[in-house]
Amino acid sequence: MAERTLVIIKPDGVQRHLVGEIISRFEKKGLKLVGAKFLRMSKELAEQLYSVHEGKTFHDPLVAYICSSPVLVTAWEANGVIDMARKLMGATFGFEAEPGTIRGDLGSSIRYNLVHGSDSLESAKREIPIFFKDEEIVDYELTNALWLYGQRE
Ligand code: RTP
Ligand code: MG
Repeated sequence: MAERTLVIIKPDGVQRHLVGEIISRFEKKGLKLVGAKFLRMSKELAEQLYSVHEGKTFHDPLVAYICSSPVLVTAWEANGVIDMARKLMGATFGFEAEPGTIRGDLGSSIRYNLVHGSDSLESAKREIPIFFKDEEIVDYELTNALWLYGQRE
């Protein structure tokens, strides 16, 4: 099975009507969408997602931000998808992210940076089950895999 990653369009992405713009960048790259859920994150879910940041100065405001308004939680699949998604997103803070990236093109804030993406295989394996049961990840074939990847999936 190809690698999977978790991508969340954060509250500012939804409020700024950038959901379509952000999703389309992942789609155009040829990544395969395998899960999607629109929800308002509870404090419990947010603390699970951001458990790696527990104790840091930005932890509490980060949890408050991610719970402040709905988010679109998505899962994507492709060989090398974790790295590709992080590159599409750009550096953590919009004001220093490269043009051409989601954060570089669409934002200039520190905390309000539009999108979350798993940062490693280990993180993806921990984060995806926080939001999706196994059966909520949809297994299907991309009929144009040959044209996207130069080979069958
Ligand atoms: P993410 O987890 O959201 O994909 O972002 P990331 O890996 O690029 O950044 P990370 O270090 O994991 O930080 C998680 C989120 O916390 C907010 N943040 N605020 N100094 C601060 O005020 C600060 N530092 C980080 C950002 O929303 C960042 O995405
Ligand atoms: Mg992170």
